[in-house]
Amino acid sequence: MKQVLIEMQSIEKIFYADDVETHALSNIHLRIQPGDYLSITGPSGCGKSTLLSIIGLLDSASGGDYSLLGESVNNLDQKQRTKIRNKEIGFIFQSFNLISDMTVWENILLPLSYRRDLSNTQKNALATQALQDVSMTHRKKHYPAQLSGGQQQRVAIARAIAGKPSLILADEPTGNLDTKNAEVVMRLLDELHHNGASICMVTHDPRSAQRANRSIHIIDGQIVSDETSPLGKGMGTLSAARRDHCEVKG
Ligand SMILES: Nc1ncnc2c1ncn2[C@@H]1O[C@H](COP(=O)(O)OP(=O)(O)O)[C@@H](O)[C@H]1O
Ligand SMILES: [Mg+2]
Repeated sequence: MKQVLIEMQSIEKIFYADDVETHALSNIHLRIQPGDYLSITGPSGCGKSTLLSIIGLLDSASGGDYSLLGESVNNLDQKQRTKIRNKEIGFIFQSFNLISDMTVWENILLPLSYRRDLSNTQKNALATQALQDVSMTHRKKHYPAQLSGGQQQRVAIARAIAGKPSLILADEPTGNLDTKNAEVVMRLLDELHHNGASICMVTHDPRSAQRANRSIHIIDGQIVSDETSPLGKGMGTLSAARRDHCEVKG
């Protein structure tokens, strides 16, 4: 039996700012299996990015239990969280988030540079492979500003996948791209999934969401539907197994 990738029970997130309490996430139950391709949709401010940040160990929950690859991450300190994040999670952001004074090659190598479990030869081989996977080898020595938005996002994808993470998290990955470049990025994600990657993608675009094999909808910090498509494409029927792990409201 394959190990569960992500297991969340009763996750809560409350932000406190200027005497205002925001309940960004309430009672989130979520299980992600290896090989899942999830889309997360919902209105602006419903908690999508917050959920992704908690899954990716960029932020921690205010309450509830979260296990990654069977290990509870509730009580880890910052150093331990960073180490796990660096190895197991690949992030893709809407605004690419490449480092402007580093070349394409240096950007891709950066997250690998923190990995003590890899030799330099291995790091170079992984970065070379990732560049090839996104067809950007010819732009290796370029700086981000010298690339189009679509190319920058391909480099960001290479950076995310180079270390062969257990889970790829993408927050509106096509939000800053035109239709043509968005399609290139979506095809890359399809291909990564086809080759075995587990992906969790926040999107505004219903057509992008339909490419995932599982669609989660969030409203006001709660998962209101969780649908799995048996064909791996499009919105499918609500599977009983998934339903057990989501709060269905309304
Ligand atoms: N760092 C923060 N401090 C205070 N409130 C925040 C913070 N981050 C997010 N929020 C609030 O939490 C809610 C969910 O935000 P977010 O997860 O960014 O929504 P989405 O990505 O779905 O648009 C919003 O009301 C937002 O204003
Ligand atoms: Mg967001």
